[in-house]
Amino acid sequence: MTNLQTRYLAEFEMPRVVPLGPNLYAAAFFLMKLLPARYILERALERGDICEGTHICETSSGTFALALAMITARMENRLTIVSDWALEPTLKRRLVELGAEVEIVTQAHPHGGLQKARLDRLNEILAQSPSHFWPRQYDNPDNPRAYGSVAAKLVDRIGQIDCLVGTVGSGGSLCGTASYLRLLFPDMVVIGVDTINSVLFGQPDAPRLVRGLGGSVIPSNVDHTLIDEVHWLSAAEIFQATRQLHSQTGLFMGPTSAAAHKVASWWAAHNDDKTVVILMPDEGHRYADSAYDDDWLNSKVPRWRSVCSDRPVTITNPHADLAQWTRLEWGRRPRSDVIAQSL
Ligand SMILES: Cc1ncc(COP(=O)(O)O)c(C=O)c1O
Repeated sequence: MTNLQTRYLAEFEMPRVVPLGPNLYAAAFFLMKLLPARYILERALERGDICEGTHICETSSGTFALALAMITARMENRLTIVSDWALEPTLKRRLVELGAEVEIVTQAHPHGGLQKARLDRLNEILAQSPSHFWPRQYDNPDNPRAYGSVAAKLVDRIGQIDCLVGTVGSGGSLCGTASYLRLLFPDMVVIGVDTINSVLFGQPDAPRLVRGLGGSVIPSNVDHTLIDEVHWLSAAEIFQATRQLHSQTGLFMGPTSAAAHKVASWWAAHNDDKTVVILMPDEGHRYADSAYDDDWLNSKVPRWRSVCSDRPVTITNPHADLAQWTRLEWGRRPRSDVIAQSL
């Protein structure tokens, strides 16, 4: 196995640095997950965990699956992706064309939602496959480690960074980038952006419409002790922000990029002497038939155009029932401390 096979997409891995305001920069990725996918596979190759014939199996709601499929398209290894019914048909077709086998889970687990149902199915497949490698994006420390090069590029291009804002799914991008940047800027404020009804920062679990951020299971790659502030947004706020980011800046990005942008713009406006960087994980193409389609939006989130939220409500109990943009001062505490203090 050579670098050529894993690294030929390296030019697509790094974000473009886009100045959006006097103290606001976007780190806009084409497909952020190309970076941890390549890094995880290379470390596994070095350790001998993957060789020719190893069956690579992963669960993903989309972008990590696509990144793995793009990279393994030139490798000899079989790739199986366990996803769920919400996987967009166009993305599924791409995965199949790239040679991946796609398993779709239709029934949510009663306590861990679709994410747990996907994990259960993945475990069944792993048990049947004698030579397999599971990249484990939620728990593999090579996921956050992959972001050292992003931190280095941001410092090189921007210099001092006072605040980093990103959405949280596996935790790899925000916690990885933050842990490298904190070596240089120990006081840097880290803001995690989640969606209502995600358990990552203590919300009660319930079905969610926006993909990529949030979860029903807590990944060990979310290092809660790095986070200063958590913001939760509703689906309507995130979709409205997606369309506004496009119409007002020309950036055609996915909903999680817009969620982070909404929070970061607010924070940057209130801290005009601080330099703020937003992690923007992917471009808008995958969402042409959802977030960028008025008919789809009107049917799923009828209020998306009329939501009016220009600032968050501040709470202290993360378990509260939320309906709109809300923030909590997390204060770099372990999750168990925050939950215990709010009971
Ligand atoms: C579109 C999108 N945005 C954001 C995230 C969250 O990134 P991370 O898993 O690094 O926390 C993901 C994760 O899959 C994603 O697919």
